[in-house]
Amino acid sequence: MINNKRKSININPLVTPVLKWAGGKRQLIKDIHSYLPNEIKNYCELFLGGGAVLFSLQPKQAIVNDINEELINVYKIIQNQVDDLIIDLRRHNNSPEYFYKIREADRNANFHSLSAVERASRIIYLNKTCYNGLFRVNSQGQFNVPFGSYKSPNIINETTLKAVSNYLQKSKIIFHSCDFESLEKNVKKNSFVYLDPPYHPISDSSSFTGYSLNGFNTHDQERLKQLYDTLAKKSCKILLSNSDCKFIRSLYKDYEIIKVEASRAINSNGSMRGKISEVLIKNY
Ligand SMILES: C[S@@+](CC[C@H](N)C(=O)[O-])C[C@H]1O[C@@H](n2cnc3c(N)ncnc32)[C@H](O)[C@@H]1O
Repeated sequence: MINNKRKSININPLVTPVLKWAGGKRQLIKDIHSYLPNEIKNYCELFLGGGAVLFSLQPKQAIVNDINEELINVYKIIQNQVDDLIIDLRRHNNSPEYFYKIREADRNANFHSLSAVERASRIIYLNKTCYNGLFRVNSQGQFNVPFGSYKSPNIINETTLKAVSNYLQKSKIIFHSCDFESLEKNVKKNSFVYLDPPYHPISDSSSFTGYSLNGFNTHDQERLKQLYDTLAKKSCKILLSNSDCKFIRSLYKDYEIIKVEASRAINSNGSMRGKISEVLIKNY
């Protein structure tokens, strides 16, 4: 159980996100912490991404999920085979020729013959060296972010990898990789559930839904609202992040909606940043 008032005592500050992830919650952590329940029994996070919230809380047990199988494979390998992963990461180099060769792997028929360690190492390498550090796939599920031309990207952050590995080993973290709706039955009564879905677009050009093959549309936001209601009826405490827009405010009108400000990329290549308002929606 996490007692929110004493939570900093058992937190290892070296346990931080290993990957840069679109929509990452690092800079909203303070806001999120200030709206958490005082006590958290069973921690559940159904859209894990970079895991900023999980790693900031470091619960001793948790159910976590993301539809992106390559991402969940990265966490499982960090948990169980971090030394092999570090050895594999050492073979990469930061040249465009090498980058495109590694990026291409998911376009080849033998992609599935790569070991789980090689696949995890590939995702970390691409995340560190691609443009803007985004994970984005095209309609065929193929990674399609171009080379980033960074001078010396930190491909092997051994300290963070080992700290995260140590945390994942000593805690009871159950990983899933499926659509959020299938996990309804896995969430126990009285759990605390953090939901950070791909955001509903505030304008037609602002939508970023390329995390996985199928994107995330209005119907998915409605399905998620249904799950929110179902879990609320099961006495779960639920905190959800989303964009501050009419559609989301109307969908969750029966719950408390809190406006928070985040600094986000405001143009398509991520080079300009501005304050964007987002919402936190809670039922407790
Ligand atoms: C906004 S990101 C989460 C960011 C995360 N909180 C962080 O700090 O990095 C949304 C995540 O939802 C995942 N996702 C998209 N559709 C999903 C679905 N139907 N079920 C479960 N996860 C999904 C994406 O793969 C992505 O990692």
